Amino acid sequence: MEKQQELLTLINQRISKVTDLIKKQNADAMIIFNQANYRYLTNFTGEEAQLILTSDGERYLLSDSRFAGQIKAQAPGELTVIMKHGNDYDEITKVLKKLNLRRVLIEGEFVSASEYQKLLVLNPDLEFKMCEELVERVRNVKDKLEIAALRKAIEISMISFKEILPMIKPGVKERTIAAKLDYLFKVNGGDGPDFDTIVASGVRSSWAHGVASDKELEDGDMIVIDFGSFYNGYAADITRTVSLGKVDSQMHQIYDIVLAAQKRGIKSAIVGNTGADVDSAARNYIKNQGYGEYFGHGIGHGIGLEIHELCQPALPFRKQKLENNMVHTVEPGIYLPNKGGVRIEDDVLISGKSPVVLSTLPKDEILSL
Ligand code: GLY
Ligand code: MN
Repeated sequence: MEKQQELLTLINQRISKVTDLIKKQNADAMIIFNQANYRYLTNFTGEEAQLILTSDGERYLLSDSRFAGQIKAQAPGELTVIMKHGNDYDEITKVLKKLNLRRVLIEGEFVSASEYQKLLVLNPDLEFKMCEELVERVRNVKDKLEIAALRKAIEISMISFKEILPMIKPGVKERTIAAKLDYLFKVNGGDGPDFDTIVASGVRSSWAHGVASDKELEDGDMIVIDFGSFYNGYAADITRTVSLGKVDSQMHQIYDIVLAAQKRGIKSAIVGNTGADVDSAARNYIKNQGYGEYFGHGIGHGIGLEIHELCQPALPFRKQKLENNMVHTVEPGIYLPNKGGVRIEDDVLISGKSPVVLSTLPKDEILSL
């Protein structure tokens, strides 16, 4: 009961921050389609629902009979639940008509053009305004329960990683390692992988996102393992690069460069800096070492209810001013085509001028298996 009360207090704080943004847009309500967003504001985890949130903080959750019991069990606080029988747009329209609204925000990224058209036709007296990443802005800064869930997701991911290390031997397929990790996430208390686990070995380690394949591990391989489990809906994201047998000396060199770059990036992950500051701290170092052209992707992204937060076009990480209790990755890499690659990724909690690295797997030396 106490836990539900704590959750409700936090949900009410989240609602109040979102309604402030709705009012700023001079709107009376918002229709929320993104599952992560309505989960954040209700704690309901089912799919295919919509939430109408008014600027006064009233919540109308449209779901269907499959989820009736689940909503009762999961969603604390005052919430009007509507069980949909017809199509989503007729049902949403019924609620909107009762509420006597003038201007309603909808999430541009989650409503298709034809769905938008339907809403316009069904509600000729309403003004719809497209918004982008409105709830996401609030989600960027994590509250106590969210940070606890992220810590647990990271812990489960780290334990599972340690457990697969003895399997890393010549002749074992990349996909076998990935499948075992995915299995261990659940066995160790998580909800399963939060993206397609990456195990990319040998030449394939130069593919920044080389999803695990049938390739067998070989002596001399660098192996990029990028993994993360959900816990209670929250996503961890960690990468370690390990070596099998004796690897080329240039691989040791780029490992050290990526590591030093990552440490510089983490050091810059402080309140007041932007994601661009974190990016350039790492990137400039890699450039100065002569490998700039081999680090093509961004330095990181937020994590939370989604594996990639803070990296949408409207809200890119590099433009984000870092605030206390944001959690994001720092993940530089160097990828040498047809040779191999290295990435090191950790999850960092912003805390004043002292970033807290939540993923604490060793990295100071290349783990040689
Ligand atoms: N770790 C996977 C990603 O960041 O896309
Ligand atoms: Mn990542």
